[in-house]
Amino acid sequence: MVNQIVRASLLTLLAAGTASFAQDGAATYKAKCQMCHGADGLAGTPAGKSTKARPFNSQDVMKMSDDDLIKVTTNGHGKMPAYKGKLTDAQIKDVVAYIHTLQK
Ligand code: HEC
Repeated sequence: MVNQIVRASLLTLLAAGTASFAQDGAATYKAKCQMCHGADGLAGTPAGKSTKARPFNSQDVMKMSDDDLIKVTTNGHGKMPAYKGKLTDAQIKDVVAYIHTLQK
């Protein structure tokens, strides 16, 4: 069991170097962001509503640059928690890439 987990994490680390951004970003999003921002990124969850998170496909968020999105995720903003020290820079980049897939 533990071995399997270790092996799975190693595989994830290996894969992270190559192609699977979207997949890693999706996993991070599901674990850390979805409870507020919603599976669809529209922030329709109870936590999203009570913190007044905006839908990722709203005009205001659509016009933010990757740098802006990365900054908000790293440092937090208003009720948005900061993920500095909780996620690596690479994980934050991947999760922002995943957010773009929710902006369609
Ligand atoms: C506790 C609820 C909560 C969680 C968990 C959360 N967010 Fe947020 N997020 C918010 C709120 C509220 C805002 C709006 C902040 C403001 O007032 O500008 C926000 C804003 C953002 C923004 C800026 C764009 C916007 O909608 O204003 C990004 C990007 C973002 N969050 C990404 C993430 C990512 C990535 C995660 C997971 C690693 C995450 N959030 C987890 C509540 C949350």
